[in-house]
Amino acid sequence: MSHDSQVRAVFREFVTGITVVTTGPVGDAATRHAMTANAFCSISLDPVLVMVSVAHTARFHAAITATDGWAVSILASDQSAVAAHFARSGRNLATQFDGIEQVAAERTGAPLIRGSRAWLECRTHDLVRAGDHTLVLGEVLAAGVNPASGQPLTYHRGGFGLPSPG
Ligand SMILES: Cc1cc2nc3c(=O)[nH]c(=O)nc-3n(C[C@H](O)[C@H](O)[C@H](O)COP(=O)(O)O)c2cc1C
Repeated sequence: MSHDSQVRAVFREFVTGITVVTTGPVGDAATRHAMTANAFCSISLDPVLVMVSVAHTARFHAAITATDGWAVSILASDQSAVAAHFARSGRNLATQFDGIEQVAAERTGAPLIRGSRAWLECRTHDLVRAGDHTLVLGEVLAAGVNPASGQPLTYHRGGFGLPSPG
């Protein structure tokens, strides 16, 4: 089946959270990179695996397929501007972290976005080519929740947040 408007309409009905996936050490503008992704999910508990699906056309694709260590920040509801920022096509990669509060994750050195709901550090377990995306499977090295960060950011029908009931 080719991607027609009916398929897109169905995909848009699925509510997701929003993550920012990052590579590279904090402070190293040459290798660190980030991209907003909602095609993220947990995959396995033994071993603990997660997955993020990255488009071949995204500049982030080269970064995540070249590195072993990466991190995932699960955004909070007041971070839609951060999500929009790391989704902006053609943004200046050298300055993309300017003004973004971040800390270096302990195991990988990848940036974690401050104020996120939760975070994970991963080592690449496998790369699976799937159509025009690569499924990046990560073994979880470390994880944490930040209970002080409010509600999670959601995404539905092409917009942040849920539609109001009724
Ligand atoms: C809410 C949202 C979710 C997204 N999820 C994904 C995703 O899961 N995988 C992906 O490859 N791109 C995803 N994108 C698109 C990328 O963020 C975007 O194409 C990329 O950052 C563009 O940067 P570039 O110019 O470096 O390629 C998403 C965009 C938005 C707004």
